[in-house]
This record gives sequence, structure tokens and C-alpha cells, in this order.
Amino acid sequence: MLNDKSVPGVNKDAGKRSLSGMRPTGALHIGHYFGAIKNWLTMQDELKSFFFVADWHALTSEYENAANIHEFIPEMVKDWLAAGLDPERAVIFQQSKIKETAELHLILSMITPVSWLERCPTYKEQLQQLSAKDLGTYGFLGYPVLMTADIIMYRPQWVPVGQDQLPHLEIAREIARRFNNFYGDFFPEPEARLTPQPKCPGLDGRKMSKSYNNGILLSESMDSIALKIREMLTDTARLRRKDPGNPVNCNLFPYHELLTDETTQAEIREGCLSAGMGCVDCKAILLRGLKDFLEPMRERRALFDARPDFVRDVLENGNKKARAEAQKTMEGVRELIGF
Ligand code: TRP
Repeated sequence: MLNDKSVPGVNKDAGKRSLSGMRPTGALHIGHYFGAIKNWLTMQDELKSFFFVADWHALTSEYENAANIHEFIPEMVKDWLAAGLDPERAVIFQQSKIKETAELHLILSMITPVSWLERCPTYKEQLQQLSAKDLGTYGFLGYPVLMTADIIMYRPQWVPVGQDQLPHLEIAREIARRFNNFYGDFFPEPEARLTPQPKCPGLDGRKMSKSYNNGILLSESMDSIALKIREMLTDTARLRRKDPGNPVNCNLFPYHELLTDETTQAEIREGCLSAGMGCVDCKAILLRGLKDFLEPMRERRALFDARPDFVRDVLENGNKKARAEAQKTMEGVRELIGF
């Protein structure tokens, strides 16, 4: 069977499949929406899509706080569903429930040169940046190998991710190629589908991040959001209402670019530059935009908050579908390797 190109034909529809995952690190903010989920929603419409909770990946750096990971899982899935991921159309599942992934990860680890992992830029960066944690572990080095197993298990061509994941995708392609060279042409080489680079900075202009508390959560109340918008700094050179301002120097404007229609955006820009519009009015428009954007999510969330088992059922169903796919892949893999 070795190097037989006519393997089970499990990857014929790769071009019609997409897969992506997210580590469960807490409630999602609008940066996650514009940076990832929006793209996932397009994938869900166009392709057979798999979206999963990367809880094993969270463990690579959070192994000392494993209990938190568990708590964040339903919270994150609720955010996904509220944002519009549809369990009827996409397979929504939990990485650690598909044990076949561990087997594939093991096999891939046999053929992955350590040098590929050591020179991965995200590995080197994280080791430095997260120096408070001991990331000198075998598992953390193998992060891209596990990610490769996640991806190629479902044989998708498309992997919607942000720019930061490109080095991992490159390793995934190389590992898939190496497997195919050794054992037969089996895995499609996955390709990144980049999220159009969205500018969604934090409310204070820094990167939106939970640790800076400078974001807007998808599940946040309008009262709390209103307070945050009121406190946002606009163009700090614009001291009085009658002074002209410049949207380029205002923390608000990137949000208008994401949430406000283009005609209104042009009016705001003009109003700011000419001092025809004040910051209070500009903030009121943004707040309305946020309300319209978050309202449908709030309504959906209320629906499944009324059904306590909903998220659990979604994951159980998704896990079953994902497992069936994974078993099919692993039958092919074992046969190719001769086990
Ligand atoms: N590494 C990804 C991130 O941090 C999460 C992830 C794990 C992933 N496995 C994946 C993304 C497979 C896409 C495909 O965002």
C-alpha cells in the first residue's frame, strides 16, 4: 500500500471545506469578531466548515490553570453561536473530545524535524514574551504539530486565520507534504484564508486585549458600553467644541470604519475637520451603531440562555460528526503506514 496514489479518496472535496479553531481564553470581544468570526461566518455560508474549541492548545501555555480553560469553553461557544455560527450548517466541536487527533499528532511528531519547530517565529516570540511561564516544554514546542493534526484531520483546503497564524500554516503544509512523500498522496495541503486585516484597536488605541481591559465584549450590556464610549479619548488636540479635530488622531474613528455606513462616515469626517460636529454627537452615532450590531447577538443569546443544555448539546452533536470524519481519516492513515 506504500506510496500507492489511489488511496481511499477521502480528500476529493478539500476545496469545499474550511476549518478553524480558537483557544478558549474567556469572553470574546469585538476584536475577535472583526478579526476572525466575521470571516468564519462567510466560510459557513460558502463551504462545509468545521470550527472547534482548541482546548488542548490552551493547555500548552495554561497547563498550570487547567480549570479555567474548562470554564471558558461554554462561554466562548455561546459567543460564537450568538454571533451567528450555525450548528445546523457548520460542525462545531471540542478538540480534546476527538482522541484521534492525539494519535495523528503522535504520528506527525515522528516525521517533523525539531528544527522546523525551533525556528518558528511565533515560538521564539512567545518564549520571550511569556517569560513568566515556563514554556520550555515538549508540548509547547509541538504546538504547530498539534495544529497540523487539527487541520489535516478534516482535509480542508481553507483555513481562515489571522496573519499571526501564517507561520503555523506554513509548517502544516510542510508536514502534510512530508507525510504524503513518505506514505502516499493523502492529505491536501491546507491554505490560509486571511482575514482582511481589520483595524480594531482597543478603546485606548492600544491592541484590544483582555489584559488591558480596553475592549467591548460581545456579551456586554449597553449601559456598560455607553460608559466606556463616554470615557474614550477623541482627538486630544481638540480642546473646545468649536476647535476642528482630525479623525486620524481620534480613537473613535476606527470603530466608525467598522460599524458606521460610508455616507455617515463621510459626514463625521467632514464634521470633525470643520468643527461642524462635536465629539458628543459623534459618540452618540457610534453607540447607536454598536447597539444595532450587538442587538441580534443579544436576542440569540437570550434564546439559548433559556435552554441550559443548548451549548452542551451543540458540542456533543458536533463532536460526533467530527469524530466520524476523524475516524475515516485515521483508517486511511493507519493503512498507509501499515499499522
Ligand atoms: N493557534 C490558533 C490561535 O491561536 C488556534 C488554533 C489551533 C487553530 N488549532 C487550529 C486555528 C487549527 C486554525 C486551525 O488562534
